[in-house]
Amino acid sequence: MASNEIISTTTWQRRLEGKVALITGGASGIGECTAKLFVHHGAKVVIADIQDDLGHALCANVLGSTNSLYVHCDVTEESQAAVETFGKLDIMMNNAGIADPSKPRIIDNDKHDFDRVLSINVTGVFLGIKHAAQAMIPAKTGSILSTASVASYTGGSASHAYTCSKHAVVGLTKNAAVELGQFGIRVNCLSPFALVTPLATKFVGLDGPEFEKIMGSKANLKGVTLKAEDVANAALFLASDESRYVSGHNLFIDGGFSIVNPNIDIFQYPQN
Ligand SMILES: NC(=O)c1ccc[n+]([C@@H]2O[C@H](COP(=O)([O-])OP(=O)(O)OC[C@H]3O[C@@H](n4cnc5c(N)ncnc54)[C@H](O)[C@@H]3O)[C@@H](O)[C@H]2O)c1
Repeated sequence: MASNEIISTTTWQRRLEGKVALITGGASGIGECTAKLFVHHGAKVVIADIQDDLGHALCANVLGSTNSLYVHCDVTEESQAAVETFGKLDIMMNNAGIADPSKPRIIDNDKHDFDRVLSINVTGVFLGIKHAAQAMIPAKTGSILSTASVASYTGGSASHAYTCSKHAVVGLTKNAAVELGQFGIRVNCLSPFALVTPLATKFVGLDGPEFEKIMGSKANLKGVTLKAEDVANAALFLASDESRYVSGHNLFIDGGFSIVNPNIDIFQYPQN
């Protein structure tokens, strides 16, 4: 592809025309929002989730049946991982995830909860990458992305299981990027700060406005409230050919949250 073709691609309105994407956890929250944006940009999208009613309704009433397909898929079950995807697969988004009950002390954490988070957030991503690679290797191209979190980098922003699982997503992303580069396949992940979705509001036990007020007070970047659309836009970049030389990257959508240590933030001192 010549460089002038890349430039014209960036101004093109339908940035995923002709591509097929599979989004796990696509029935709700970030996945649902990303599915809408991908379809808007010309992709056909397969929603893989366990919330069948939500997934079917999204495809039938919002995305449209010619552009989308709902498939029941528990990401922890390898037998369900090889999903039919309009005959090819260009984009895989491993987005399904859960948080365990909020228990701040490790001595109160249950092994069962820990295992379940690791199973969905890590084994699910491993299986997603594996089966996407199987479909993409013959085509010698593809973009795999996974939804990590600021907890992929910072300590103390989520539970032990969740933090551990998101660190592991970065490890898998790097390793898979190294292996799959020889086949022209890119592998990246996204690390958002906190935003209102069913997962997040349930985890902190707050409704949407209260959640945004409290998270806004903890955010580094003021005057902007993080929304699912911001994560979807980052996913669109990593999914599209505009990021054709980006691989092994953890893209933070956190307004600088993860790079600040508020204890030594000199910019918070009164200025003379
Ligand atoms: N909301 C946030 O603040 C935030 C921040 C950083 C990262 N994330 C990550 O974003 C991703 C999406 O979460 P969300 O916030 O949109 O929450 P959400 O609850 O709206 O969506 C998660 C989806 O995953 C699905 N899911 C759960 N277990 C599954 C399984 N075993 N198989 C298939 N699907 C399954 C759920 O049914 C749901 O539709 C998660 O990986 C989460 O860890 C969220």
